[in-house]
Amino acid sequence: MGANQCKPGVCTSDRRMDGKVIIVTGANSGLGLETAKDLVGRGAILVMACRNRESTLQAESIIRSVTPAGEIHIMDLDLGDLDSVHRFARDFLEKFNRLDVLINNAGIFLPPDQRKLTKDGFEMHMGVNYWGHFLLTHLLLDRIKATPNSRIVIVASVLAWMGSINFDNMDVENGWKPKKPSLLYSHSKLANMYHAQALYQKLKGSGVNVYTLCPGFVNTGLMRYTKDEWNSCQMCCLSPIVKMIARTPEKGAQTAINCAVSEDLDEVEFGFFQNCKLSDMKPVATDSLIRDRLWDYTMDRLKLSDDRNKLADTSQGDNLAYTDIE
Ligand SMILES: NC(=O)c1ccc[n+]([C@@H]2O[C@H](COP(=O)([O-])OP(=O)(O)OC[C@H]3O[C@@H](n4cnc5c(N)ncnc54)[C@H](OP(=O)(O)O)[C@@H]3O)[C@@H](O)[C@H]2O)c1
Repeated sequence: MGANQCKPGVCTSDRRMDGKVIIVTGANSGLGLETAKDLVGRGAILVMACRNRESTLQAESIIRSVTPAGEIHIMDLDLGDLDSVHRFARDFLEKFNRLDVLINNAGIFLPPDQRKLTKDGFEMHMGVNYWGHFLLTHLLLDRIKATPNSRIVIVASVLAWMGSINFDNMDVENGWKPKKPSLLYSHSKLANMYHAQALYQKLKGSGVNVYTLCPGFVNTGLMRYTKDEWNSCQMCCLSPIVKMIARTPEKGAQTAINCAVSEDLDEVEFGFFQNCKLSDMKPVATDSLIRDRLWDYTMDRLKLSDDRNKLADTSQGDNLAYTDIE
């Protein structure tokens, strides 16, 4: 990340997004809030998909303090609770007849020695960062396909290069190596990248572009749960260093904004982006066997139907999103 970290890249597109419906998960803080601010300023109809009402209302006033444009809708979404994801999707589909851009931004990073599970029993990083977003995307897919020139943007991280997909230890029930500080997070970000590639395989030619990205190292609240682990000496030394080398959320959000709006990408069906530019993924993230196996495993565990032809067929009705849930 070293050299790249110095040149964050800027979204140079001034494209308006008037009337376009855009969901940003985790829009109440950090990168999500900056992304949301920019998109509302372009006239978008923004759906802030967040789990904490109070902090989302505060975020809404921050957005409103900088732009009177666009519309803002706040809708509850806890990605660590599949029932909440179902409720969100149902409410969204009732309320909105289009979905131009889905930005899967929310994410969690826990101390490396903690094994936490979501309400549904998934390891927490995978549960929130991957499983919740996978289900959300699946439930909204027909609406996305029915919207011309739509996009799915999945915020991943180059920490994925340190991850792996462990099919026989998906919820780390058989242990893990807590000495590697970002291991469980890395697995989930790798899964995000495979999710993007699998979606692209299934959506090619359907008018839905799929992008995944790394925003760089950004000074946000992502590490907030790990700060309790630092002693005061570490806090004193590390905090200023983080401030010095990390990007501001505004700079970090540029790549996601670019993926959501840039007219230069209209004909680009898939890509991994860093610093607003197309970039190469490391081999650990491009194994087509793992991509397909992870898709099948996920569909199976979430009890979703795996009719690949149906998925690629844009003529399917909107209600399909719910018919395949047992
Ligand atoms: N910061 C970096 O250096 C960096 C680098 C690479 C990738 N990323 C990725 O960038 C994305 C945004 O992170 P950030 O840096 O902006 O961190 P952040 O400020 O902590 O934002 C994370 C967002 O995710 C939300 N979230 C967490 N758990 C959730 C759940 N169960 N349901 C719904 N929303 C949930 C948080 O909501 P609450 O406020 O309610 O907790 C928050 O809005 C993440 O996907 C992260 O992995 C960040």
